[in-house]
Amino acid sequence: MITGAARTAGVTGWPVAHSLSPRLHGFWLARHGIDGLYAPFPVHPDRFAEAMTGLRAAGVRGVNVTVPHKQAALTFADTVDEAAGLIGAVNTLIFHADGSTEGRNTDAPGFMRNLIQHDVDPAAGPALLFGAGGAARAAVFALLAAGTPEVWLVNRHVARARQLAADLADPRVRVLEATPDAARLTEVGLVVNTTSVGMKGRGRIDLNVSALPATAVVHDIVYTPLRTGLLADAQACGLKTVDGLGMLLHQAAPAFEAFFGQAPGVDDALRDHLLEVL
Ligand code: ATR
Repeated sequence: MITGAARTAGVTGWPVAHSLSPRLHGFWLARHGIDGLYAPFPVHPDRFAEAMTGLRAAGVRGVNVTVPHKQAALTFADTVDEAAGLIGAVNTLIFHADGSTEGRNTDAPGFMRNLIQHDVDPAAGPALLFGAGGAARAAVFALLAAGTPEVWLVNRHVARARQLAADLADPRVRVLEATPDAARLTEVGLVVNTTSVGMKGRGRIDLNVSALPATAVVHDIVYTPLRTGLLADAQACGLKTVDGLGMLLHQAAPAFEAFFGQAPGVDDALRDHLLEVL
């Protein structure tokens, strides 16, 4: 039951009906007994700034930002964190009491916290990363910050991977023309898929998983299905795998804390709740 003193926050996108964020934040609000409300805000791209100005004026604490507003949110924010600036996208807007708006990208810390919760050492060896979109940018940024010795980028359109590498300007990022051969795969510590290949069972990442060393960890950020073709192949080879649900949960936690003043837990009960929704 919310009162007149409830804190309010939400998620904005166009459309927004598919967003899992209200279920996620709603679970945490109930668990912590917080007097708070987390609502979906469908906002047409033409009215983004107008809508954000209105929400801010109405005392809303902040919003999570999803497709197609992540770049507009970067422009709207008065200040942005380093991750958001380098990734070129804001996924969380925080409306401060003084009228200012802070933009953050919590995908990068969410990506890393999830790996750490699964006891993955990002510095164990080179990371082979598929993709060059927004999710790839967040993952590469997080890996570099965590001390990954090299990040090997493979993307369908190689030019996009080159642009990512140029923007991050770190000599540890190598752009590959194609998936490395079996000999090079033996060096890999971590494989990450950030592309939509494998989503809803469509397609499979082009990778000879059996050439990876027994110590390699395979992570797919796709969570529909939870067990993608890539993860199934890795499991069949006895490799450790990390599915995509954890990153979704971990990227939401810092936003919840900023909106409602409490750090929520990411645990099996939350995971089970989201699995039911999915
Ligand atoms: P996000 O912001 O979620 O990362 P995105 O920017 O649309 O989404 O990026 C999607 C990624 O999936 C890209 O790396 C894309 O490859 P391109 O940059 O070459 O387009 C990749 N992708 C999507 N469909 C693909 C397919 N059928 N085969 C290979 N890669 C695909």
